[in-house]
Amino acid sequence: MKYKTLIVNIRKRVGWITINRLKKLNALNRETLAELHHALATLEEDNNVRLLVIRGSGDTAFVAGADIGELAELSASEGADLAQQGNQQVFDYIEHYNKPVIAAVNGYALGGGLELAMACHLRVFADTAKAGMPETSLGLIPGYGGTQRLPQLVGRGRAMELLLTGDMIDAQRAYEIGLANVVCSPKELDAKVLELAAAILKNAPEAQLQLLAAVCAGYDSQTDGYAAETEAFGACFGTDNFTQGTKAFLQKRRPKF
Ligand code: COA
Repeated sequence: MKYKTLIVNIRKRVGWITINRLKKLNALNRETLAELHHALATLEEDNNVRLLVIRGSGDTAFVAGADIGELAELSASEGADLAQQGNQQVFDYIEHYNKPVIAAVNGYALGGGLELAMACHLRVFADTAKAGMPETSLGLIPGYGGTQRLPQLVGRGRAMELLLTGDMIDAQRAYEIGLANVVCSPKELDAKVLELAAAILKNAPEAQLQLLAAVCAGYDSQTDGYAAETEAFGACFGTDNFTQGTKAFLQKRRPKF
């Protein structure tokens, strides 16, 4: 599939989605969101893909936010619709994805860009990257889950500071407060992402599917996370991965998933 605003590649079981609106610092417009949804849905069904990486093109921005040119034209109800659709098609979709998703944060991750990185399960930051939630400087608040996921990741006090000031932080600070899992030089970014991917890919995909669902359930106010974990734990027992994993352990060898 050819996209206008994305580049999609699959290499060695890893699907790479690169947001490619270089001239607009990879800002998310409606077209990009629709293409992201299509790419996510396609890669979700692809059995050759076990893990996704989302990055921005170039070395300036991961994603510099929602497209402000588009936002400026919207009424209140259109703004609410945009947020609802974006969450359903992209942000919540990634959080509940059936494979691990890593954000490779290669530059500015602002507003909707940081929300995209936070919807991913893990984040690797280049040390040149900058993160922030500048929405209130535009007379807005985050609409793609930022008021919820930022406090979950960094704690309420730090989240309030970032949200109310709109100030940017550097990658090292993002690491210190738990926003970045790994920080590395820009040159090392893809290699570090692949290192993290390899550490994940050695483990059982069927168990990871259950694991992602159980962790997400704990953040859903309608769901009892502990009950969801019990169910997900039970679901692992019937799987091939479970048979292979336990058999390999008992035979004192590494399983191959
Ligand atoms: N939406 C639409 N266009 C954007 C954008 C966004 N979120 N962020 C950057 N761009 C565009 C700029 O308008 C500019 O386009 P132009 O060349 O056609 O004028 C281009 O990307 C380059 O951006 P520019 O501002 O010239 O780069 P810079 O290096 O001086 O500054 C930023 C970089 C990221 C600090 C600055 O672009 C910025 O503050 N962007 C908006 C961030 C934001 O508020 N995001 C939250 C949105 S809800």
